[in-house]
Amino acid sequence: MPQPWWKSAVVYQVYPRSFRDTDGDGVGDLEGIRRGLPHLQWLGVDALWLSPIYKSPMADFGYDVADHCDVDPAFGTLADMDRLIAEAHDRGLRVLLDWVANHTSDQHPWFQASRSSRDHPMRDWYVWRDRPNNWVAAIGDGPAWTFDPATDQHYLHLFLPQQPDLNWANPQVQQAMHDTLRFWLDRGVDGFRADVIHLIGKDPALPDDPPHLVGTSRVGRHDEPRTHELLRGIRAVLDSYPGERMMVGEVNLDAHERIARYYGRGDQLHLAFDFVPLYAAWDAAVWRGVVADVERVFGAADAWPTWVLSNHDQPRHRSRYGGGEARARAAAVLLLTLRGTPFLYAGEELGLTDAEIPPGRAVDPGGRDGCRAPLPWEPGPAHGWASPDPWLPWPPCAEERNVATLRARPDSILHLYRRLLAARRASPALSLGSLEMLDTPAGVLGYVRAAGDHRRTVLVNFHDEPADAPLAGDHVVEVASDGAGEGGPYGGRLAPTQGVVLRPA
Ligand code: GLC
Repeated sequence: MPQPWWKSAVVYQVYPRSFRDTDGDGVGDLEGIRRGLPHLQWLGVDALWLSPIYKSPMADFGYDVADHCDVDPAFGTLADMDRLIAEAHDRGLRVLLDWVANHTSDQHPWFQASRSSRDHPMRDWYVWRDRPNNWVAAIGDGPAWTFDPATDQHYLHLFLPQQPDLNWANPQVQQAMHDTLRFWLDRGVDGFRADVIHLIGKDPALPDDPPHLVGTSRVGRHDEPRTHELLRGIRAVLDSYPGERMMVGEVNLDAHERIARYYGRGDQLHLAFDFVPLYAAWDAAVWRGVVADVERVFGAADAWPTWVLSNHDQPRHRSRYGGGEARARAAAVLLLTLRGTPFLYAGEELGLTDAEIPPGRAVDPGGRDGCRAPLPWEPGPAHGWASPDPWLPWPPCAEERNVATLRARPDSILHLYRRLLAARRASPALSLGSLEMLDTPAGVLGYVRAAGDHRRTVLVNFHDEPADAPLAGDHVVEVASDGAGEGGPYGGRLAPTQGVVLRPA
């Protein structure tokens, strides 16, 4: 049976401000993304997801949208976007846009209208109350409410005060937001990454958090039945278009069971991010538990898993794990061979660590600048950017860790990602097959992926010492994280921090 494209796809996340600047303002732009398409095609990913490119005052660097249907001038124009979509498609790459549905910018005309008077017909598009409840905002530790003296009421914002929450209980809001989807679907995008989508449904009573939770953000636990109904409405919009348009939702909850419910019965999200692995330590036992839980929970829910190690909100996994590039390489083996859709964050294919941000250069109120450092394309002071002074400092070792330099070195981590992506694309077992855990020695994680007669065995040694991991039957090393012995027989022993993909001999 043919499977939808998003199950076997690998998605590459672009943070537009940090990808590539072509006009010299120190901020990446759509033209820079367009010029980066050959790199993505060479690498072998299937789709790119762009963090927000919409008109925005940039209080949250684009996650505060002032117009869902226009491009911010810092990034380019709608015409640039049309060109980017067309050229990506010509290169066989799908395009996903970020869709920020829980809130808008306080500069959005909807909010300007809503705040103008209590009687304005759009007052109810946002959440206004005389008395705030005890919720706190996710960025900064302040209250989730801001008092607006003009109309003598408070408005709700689960993030910054510049990001008022939309009132999704209002059918006009639902319609208007559906229209923003249609606007981009009509322009040919293949789908969306839906920002904190689990937050859109709210109990109109807005009950106080219980005492033991006061002072903690709701984002990791807000799990409201109403959201599921709203997701069915959103899904219907996507389904009314040809070509399997897809939505992957950021469901920032802490348990696989809760996340899996957001797939519904195939009538809500196509995919939901599962951040449990993103927070998991570099430890074979921890990962064994995570993989087994994902298999159990998502398998039972008939929901296709996702795998994310890094994104624009968390320290890069190479920085989190420590242990140098070897761990980043072994992690790439995991990310690209587990059962589910992997999401790569731009720069992880270069083995980037977070940038050091000197105190005077911090710009994000949420403290996430380090992982948003600009992507180095070349050696030299400007690293392929039109300006040598981008909005954030370069990541460490950019003179060596850049696309051009690593591309010229077949033993680089960049080539490892490419080999893994090629192996995955060529193997029905790796892209769509089942997963069965192997009984491996402590410190080693092992599993078999199988589809019909196709089989691949994956072994990852989490320890910094060699590990014996014998297998029944003869195997050939297809990909090794350190490149050692590829094409030769597997000898039953893993090098320190080595990950391998094996095929039957
Ligand atoms: C999501 C985004 C994050 C943003 C927040 C508010 O978590 O990934 O960058 O700050 O939503 O939109």
